[in-house]
Amino acid sequence: MYAEQPSFKENNKNMQRVGIELGERSYDILIGSGIRKQVGELLKPIFEPSRVIVITHPSINNLYGEEVVANFIEQGWTTDIIEVPEGESSKSLGQAEKLYDHLLELNCDRKSILVALGGGVIGDLVGFVAATYQRGIPFIQVPTTLLSLVDSSVGGKTAVNHPKGKNMIGAFYQPRLVVADLETLQTLSQKEYRAGLAEVVKYGVIADANLFEFLETNYEKIINLDQNFLTHIVKTSCAIKASVVEKDERESHYRMILNFGHTFGHAIESLTEYSQFVHGEAVAIGMVLATKLSHSAGKCSEDVPRRLEALLKNLGLPVNMPALNSSAVIKSLYHDKKTVENKIKFILVKEIGSIEIVDQVSEAEILKVLRANLFITKS
Ligand SMILES: NC(=O)c1ccc[n+]([C@@H]2O[C@H](COP(=O)([O-])OP(=O)(O)OC[C@H]3O[C@@H](n4cnc5c(N)ncnc54)[C@H](O)[C@@H]3O)[C@@H](O)[C@H]2O)c1
Ligand SMILES: [Zn+2]
Repeated sequence: MYAEQPSFKENNKNMQRVGIELGERSYDILIGSGIRKQVGELLKPIFEPSRVIVITHPSINNLYGEEVVANFIEQGWTTDIIEVPEGESSKSLGQAEKLYDHLLELNCDRKSILVALGGGVIGDLVGFVAATYQRGIPFIQVPTTLLSLVDSSVGGKTAVNHPKGKNMIGAFYQPRLVVADLETLQTLSQKEYRAGLAEVVKYGVIADANLFEFLETNYEKIINLDQNFLTHIVKTSCAIKASVVEKDERESHYRMILNFGHTFGHAIESLTEYSQFVHGEAVAIGMVLATKLSHSAGKCSEDVPRRLEALLKNLGLPVNMPALNSSAVIKSLYHDKKTVENKIKFILVKEIGSIEIVDQVSEAEILKVLRANLFITKS
């Protein structure tokens, strides 16, 4: 369903390219080891050197800020760096306003370019600020978590949170380039790394049986950050995401397939108050439930949830539902923003690599699957 892209440069085996074709909003995703040290250079074919503002967390600045900035300076860019505190709470209008203040103090104009150096929190926040500062200025993504490499840095969803809900204020606004340096994953915690792998598994289930089998066969190499295996799964994941976004940039329908496992996952995250699981872990459990629901609805064989559970366990991800009240889970499902006209849309699996968007799943069917799970103590 998606096209394999040729290597970025024949003579540069360290860099791969995936293109995302969106007319005048098209851009490249460059994937390689150590390419954070070349961002200024890589940006040159797109922009004349002018002014860049790198926005990142203090800890990521300590690890990688200097290397990224050094190349911009070397290539003739005027460079500033702004730090924002770590954590989901930085995805706020308050934090965005602080960034607007900084940008105005630095006299940034519409030719200035923002660089999001970090995970999904930085990417979503910087993308939102870029979309709104002076009615929109260019930005690029330099993702440093596996989740942001394979998911949040690609596709142009930007947002901040509102006290009443996550990602409630945002814009579709595409970056001009994504520079994904696999080496940065070496400093990421195991927990965050494995959580990112859940999104890679998701791509296998929704679109690519070969990717799924590749993960089944090579999970040890992948857990150990083998750069060749990692390159393959990141490139394949980005190509799948690009292909989905190309077909439905603004999520009118088809892009929803990227939410596989997320309907249950969001309910689990919210009912455990975002403290028990990181996002990818909740998605892992959500995907298991979604495949069990698919089986119970007669869409797939028993083999699908069995293989998925085995793979997620091998990757060190949770597969069991925490002790939650199943009625509370149902209530939370109906509050998810993807609920349209009080119908819950589910992405159900037909076989590994093939799914169907369904809005006819009954509450009774969902309850049956939830109650069949041993880890639910109350009904
Ligand atoms: N825009 C989208 O399409 C999209 C898709 C999925 C998720 N998201 C958003 O992404 C966010 C989650 O992103 P995330 O999982 O990357 O979390 P994150 O950005 O909070 O990063 C997780 C932690 O890892 C640290 N970190 C990042 N890179 C590191 C590195 N290389 N070495 C050491 N530490 C590092 C961060 O400082 C942070 O503490 C959520 O807000 C979610 O809503 C957006
Ligand atoms: Zn996700």
